[in-house]
Amino acid sequence: MTWSINHTSLAEADLLNQESIYALGNGYLGVRGNFEEGYSGNMKTIRGSYINAFHDVINIPYGEKLYGFPSTQQKLVNIMDAQGIDIYVGDAREHFNLFTGEVISYKRELKLKEGISERFIHWKSPSGQELKITFRRLVSFTVRELLAIHILIEPIAVQGTIAIESHLNGDVENYTAVNDPRVASGHAKLLTTKAIGTESGIGFVRNETLASKLSVNCATTYSHSEALENEHIVLTEQVKYRTVFAAAEPITFTKWNVFTDTLRHGEQSLVIAKQKASELTALSFAQIMEQQQQYLADFWLRSDIVISNDDELQEGIRFNVFQLLQSAGRDEYSNIAAKGLSGEGYEGHYFWDTEIYMLPVFLLTQPDIARGLLIYRHHILPFAKQRAREMGHKKGALYPWRTIAGTECSSFFPSGTAQYHISADIAYSYIQYFMATEDYDFLAGYGCEVLAETARLWIEVGHERDGRFYIDEVTGPDEYTCCVNNNYYTNVMAKHNLAWAAKTLKLLQAHNEQRYNELLIQLELSEDEISVWANAAQNMYLPYDAALGINPQDDSFLNKKVWDFENTPKEKYPLLLHFHPLTIYRYQVCKQADTVLAHFLLEDEQTEETIKRSYDYYEQITTHDSSLSTCIFSIMASKIGYADKAYHYFKETARLDLDNTHGNTKDGLHLANMGGTWMAIVFGFAGVRIKPDTLSLAPKLPADWDQYQFKLQYKGRSIEMVVSKSGIELTLASGDSLSVTLFGKSIPLQPHETYKAELIQV
Ligand code: BGC
Repeated sequence: MTWSINHTSLAEADLLNQESIYALGNGYLGVRGNFEEGYSGNMKTIRGSYINAFHDVINIPYGEKLYGFPSTQQKLVNIMDAQGIDIYVGDAREHFNLFTGEVISYKRELKLKEGISERFIHWKSPSGQELKITFRRLVSFTVRELLAIHILIEPIAVQGTIAIESHLNGDVENYTAVNDPRVASGHAKLLTTKAIGTESGIGFVRNETLASKLSVNCATTYSHSEALENEHIVLTEQVKYRTVFAAAEPITFTKWNVFTDTLRHGEQSLVIAKQKASELTALSFAQIMEQQQQYLADFWLRSDIVISNDDELQEGIRFNVFQLLQSAGRDEYSNIAAKGLSGEGYEGHYFWDTEIYMLPVFLLTQPDIARGLLIYRHHILPFAKQRAREMGHKKGALYPWRTIAGTECSSFFPSGTAQYHISADIAYSYIQYFMATEDYDFLAGYGCEVLAETARLWIEVGHERDGRFYIDEVTGPDEYTCCVNNNYYTNVMAKHNLAWAAKTLKLLQAHNEQRYNELLIQLELSEDEISVWANAAQNMYLPYDAALGINPQDDSFLNKKVWDFENTPKEKYPLLLHFHPLTIYRYQVCKQADTVLAHFLLEDEQTEETIKRSYDYYEQITTHDSSLSTCIFSIMASKIGYADKAYHYFKETARLDLDNTHGNTKDGLHLANMGGTWMAIVFGFAGVRIKPDTLSLAPKLPADWDQYQFKLQYKGRSIEMVVSKSGIELTLASGDSLSVTLFGKSIPLQPHETYKAELIQV
């Protein structure tokens, strides 16, 4: 049961959420879980297919446009719809649809080991024609351009013929919602059809974006049971394929859709799409399913987390990890959008969500994917440098708060551009990557440059006074408190960025002096500049309030009045949809973990007591209106020893989309929260931390669980960890012996041997 997600509801609101839940993707292509035949009448649907990073550029309208505000933004484009398939039954051509006739039985399922989604239907038409239909679809992990849909029709009592009409529709629009800042409010139609037709049994459509002039193609071909008739019909923006079958025998019908785009496949992209489509027909759907399963078997071997006796949470973690895999870009153009490839919320933009909430999952399970995500950030470094200049900084790189192609796409700077911390977050993930892999080549090729350019930013934006280094006028992660001086999170992350930029260059010098010297020339960097970074890190001001014994979120935070939580009814949350930002900024109220997050990421910067007091303080004033929050509170509650809270926040996190607890799953899945679920187990319950010279572990067992287990990839090893009522077992499943740190003590791990220890519950 925990390897699949099931639904039987056909209620309109449920179906909208299921469109996101049943989204299939492979990091390149993503397709929402729409019904091939559609719903009925005017039932709402968000029909969508996307290619990661395939975007258009649109103007940002401003009432008052000030200097440095971006004039354009990128937007993920809803590409041509290849999902459409209509089935007509009998000579009266009754249209199969789950909202007419009688649904004798119906179930849909997302299979996490197989990487397919299915619908099983037993249906009787209004006139009494009876048949069973199974829809199966997959977005291939092995052929990134492929969406394959397979249909099996079993006539039970059908008079006459069965006709199938399949569509490839180039007339598509993006989804808009005027009053929700988390969804785009304008610019629906972004594509025009540039070429359409058929060639050697392949139907194709080529669409082009209005402004970015990128092209996307889909070539569609079919394999099916013997048909009485079949023909392609080419319309202005749509190619149809019509087939008629005798209804005596079961009918199989496979639709192979190959998508390409000019970003990845260049000017020949249409030719490539057609070629690939014709090659694919040599395969059967069963063979492509087999490849998919093999790919996933290997994936789960490293990425599964097993919880022994809680099916709901087990289902939650597996679903979330699977969706992360489906969403992660695998090339230099793409990253992981806040909603993955499952919907249009946040317009397909990449945020800090990747580095702080998702990349850690890949780093410790599939490091190659993590590496790819970091390469994307290196790829957009030139834009980040340019943005820093626009923002008045002579040197350094300011990464865009939200982007696809690399330029800043945020029009509301207080909770956009002002979140300078994203540059330190990216630096942080490069540092974590280095600590977990010791990959010097990567450091030499990418890491040092990103660390140096981000370090330079802090010198530019900060300033020294009386021997202390201050950073003014920035916004931390908490978007309910904007444009402040010395946000603790930003300062401590900048400190880390500065210190490690200096440190990694020294490490590189010792390891590969030639490359170090080349870099100094390439970056016009001097040893003096490097020591300026080290000094700024050392002198970084980290706000501390002696009376409360906590780190204030920023210089003015504690002077503000606390939000009137008592008189804020439930329906006024999330606050951002009910109060003007300035109203919110005037109070002590947090949308999400901020200082608490800093205490997780850089726990050695403060004492355990300060961390605990800060947790107690901020917990009272945090609304968790952002889905990036509860996982962090779970992790920190685990660390502090608040077992009940850790479990409570974990439960809030693990099934957020499956249970639609934030009410907007229809707009796409909450990918950061999905990464947060994994983190709440591995970093939270299991107390794992990547430290400069060791992997540190401090596992606990939630009271309701008998056992949980997972594997980590670390420095080329695979380490398996089992935590149960009878203790902890650590097995070095592959790789050379190494020592890790368990409850603060170094312990040796030998290949294929299991190290056992007692559980210390606090
Ligand atoms: C959160 C941000 C996050 C963004 C995209 C916002 O609601 O406050 O921290 O980056 O969503 O997920």
